[in-house]
Amino acid sequence: MFKKIGFLLLTFLIYQHTVFAQAIPREVTVLDSGWLFMKGEIEDASALKTNESGWEKVSIPHDWAITGDFNKNNDAQEVKVIEDGESKLTKKVGRTGGLPFEGVGWYRKHLGISEKDKNKTINIEFDGAMSHAQIFLNGKFVGEWPYGYSSFAFDITKYINFSGDNVLAVRLKNFWESSRWYPGAGIYRNVRLVKTNPIHIEHWGTFVQTPLVTREKATLKIETSIKNPRNSIIQLVTKVYDKDNLQVATTQSIDSSGKRKIVQQLNINKPNLWTAATPQLYYAQTSVYANNILLDEYKTPFGIRKIEFKPSQGMLVNGVKTKLKGVCMHSDLGPLGMAINKAALRYRLNLLKEMGCNAIRGTHNPQAPELLELCDEMGFYFIAEAFDEWKNPKLKNGYHLLFDDWAKKDLEAMILRNRNHPSVIMYSIGNEIREQGSKDGYKVAQYLTDICHQTDSTRPTTAAFNNWDAAIKNGLANAVDIPGWNYKPQFYAKIHKDYPNWVVYGSETVSTVSSRGAYELPAEPAQMKTRANNQSSSYDLEYCSWSQLPDMEWQSQDKNDFVAGEFVWTGFDYLGEPTPYGSIWPSKSSYFGIIDLAGIPKDRYFLYQSKWSAKKVLHVLPHWNWEGKEGQIVPVYVYTNYPSAELFINGKSYGKKTFDKSNLLDTYRLRWENAVYQPGELKVIAYDKNGNIADKQIIKTAGKPAKIVLSTDKTDLKPDGKDLAFVTVSVTDKDGNLCPLANNLVNFKINGAGNLKAVGNGNPASLEPFEASFRKAFYGKCMAIVQSAKKDGPINIIAESEGLNSASIKIQTSN
Ligand code: GAL
Repeated sequence: MFKKIGFLLLTFLIYQHTVFAQAIPREVTVLDSGWLFMKGEIEDASALKTNESGWEKVSIPHDWAITGDFNKNNDAQEVKVIEDGESKLTKKVGRTGGLPFEGVGWYRKHLGISEKDKNKTINIEFDGAMSHAQIFLNGKFVGEWPYGYSSFAFDITKYINFSGDNVLAVRLKNFWESSRWYPGAGIYRNVRLVKTNPIHIEHWGTFVQTPLVTREKATLKIETSIKNPRNSIIQLVTKVYDKDNLQVATTQSIDSSGKRKIVQQLNINKPNLWTAATPQLYYAQTSVYANNILLDEYKTPFGIRKIEFKPSQGMLVNGVKTKLKGVCMHSDLGPLGMAINKAALRYRLNLLKEMGCNAIRGTHNPQAPELLELCDEMGFYFIAEAFDEWKNPKLKNGYHLLFDDWAKKDLEAMILRNRNHPSVIMYSIGNEIREQGSKDGYKVAQYLTDICHQTDSTRPTTAAFNNWDAAIKNGLANAVDIPGWNYKPQFYAKIHKDYPNWVVYGSETVSTVSSRGAYELPAEPAQMKTRANNQSSSYDLEYCSWSQLPDMEWQSQDKNDFVAGEFVWTGFDYLGEPTPYGSIWPSKSSYFGIIDLAGIPKDRYFLYQSKWSAKKVLHVLPHWNWEGKEGQIVPVYVYTNYPSAELFINGKSYGKKTFDKSNLLDTYRLRWENAVYQPGELKVIAYDKNGNIADKQIIKTAGKPAKIVLSTDKTDLKPDGKDLAFVTVSVTDKDGNLCPLANNLVNFKINGAGNLKAVGNGNPASLEPFEASFRKAFYGKCMAIVQSAKKDGPINIIAESEGLNSASIKIQTSN
């Protein structure tokens, strides 16, 4: 016994003074190019050798359905949506976007593996594949993972031919009536080939916890799971670096027991604490040695922060009370479909950040790892949600078919992958699950909560309840740590009073509907309002039978300061669920977004910005082109956080307005209901608290469409074949005023070091393709999404339209 300790000590001392020899530690290759794809059931598709001539060359991430034609028969669903208060079956069209995602699709990829990899362990990692993935190597079945949103990995070592070709084949199969929104189709997230030595850190094998966090000192507890098949003597060295790459702590351990999990503890003095406002990250570099040879190295980014939830205060971050100003986000990226793209996510998060949003609920399924990375880096609190359905079906082919066999594996996969992200504040085990209505539902809730706690005891569980009283009565609410309430601002006070130990928050709020730029008169609150043009009004007064206006939610939150905050449904429009036009084609995408499907903010964006952000905001609506309405009332609204503002129409004052809490709609907006339309100029002057002029906005009646104006979010792109620029196209009159009703067809020409990836205009009722060189303007605007090539150089983007002066813009692609 003593001998062994002595030996270990000696090894340890030698180790400390030795320059280590190097084996090749971990090699990670992102498998993004050189894939072949074929739609349909194909004989021999998984075989090592097959006729590949008819296969399409694709790159991954790939969504095979996003370029397909919209058709109302694609996934038309006869359903009774009890969550929406429906009592009979209705036919829903466009509920999943009207795109052809159903059926089987095959992918093949020749892998670069050679004799020199002979002693390696080789894993294949998928961030997500939609859906029912079956993985084959050289014709042999490796494994399967049906839930299309889960990340998973397989050890493929034993199937590999080290002296010849190796073919990875993936079979996917999607079903109609399996989703309530567009799920996409294909290998839509990244895939990696990971080569390690037999002794290596396991997949998702590090867990960095911060049991003690103060401004003076933080204690880290780091668990590392190591595969050590022969119980070799290994040395585990962990070094912690701050955001400037300075090493701030280190520790080492020796193990020869073959113990899978090694726990280390480190202290960091005066840590840079992570919050959404100050997203300062650290990373742990974990190195595994045996015989002084570096065998594996792995980086784990993490943050040091303490999140607490208190019933009377809501959320505290590092001791500071912090309101959740959140939005819900589905996984599709609008015109780009489901194929994950980090630049697109960054574009979205930049807009949300600018609006004052500080939190995201990833609905209603595990999200791409890139989203969590960006939440860590850019600063957003994140709710990681696993399911929209348990055993009790919402859809014929929904998750209930998988629940018994897969729920535990899917939930564990989500948590193991996400547990090091400082952004993650809670795990949601479900959204509006129908078990709320069943007596034994709480047992399922408890089962899932237990899995979460066993996998990560540092975070609370939540679930989003719409059937609030049933969820309480049936014990589901009590079976999660923090029950979330969907669309229940009217009950926040009651729930808090009846259950003083519960933290209260709006897991899903508002579901107000609007179409960017579509101002419809009369401007008045309405529920489930439909029109012949399939649009909802941008006066932001229309909502659903089960939902609210932002004003209603805020009134309750402002009265009930214990509420931890909210997650608005939704930050961006998404493909599918075109409420209130759920049965009315050609609506195929949602109206719920604060930002439209193309990524252009709607008016509501500025309403949220005025409430959520510290920035000064002055936003005026509607447009001032109301031909035929001369002399008639056209209400003017102002979204602002200045205390007062005055409206002038063609120089005539309509008076100063301040916020008026005695009327809900005047509490958060300034409204001139008596404004009379005459063409000319609408001017709003904002005053500060001392009554001094602080800001001014002018909207002019635009003349005829005369030219195109382009603006881009970025002028420099990385030459990686992935980076994106979002080029907004505006149709203006000769003086540059936006033509707010223009629907001109715009044609794009792109040359140089990039290509046109997709187009959009935010019109939920447009069936124009996303992959095209043209797009009609929708209320004066559309979007061209431009992607860099894998080379340096300029990209020229030219936009033309008949009868308009064309425009061009140059973007540089360079390292
Ligand atoms: C909720 C549901 C969301 C979405 C929303 C629309 O009930 O959780 O997924 O359907 O309604 O208002």
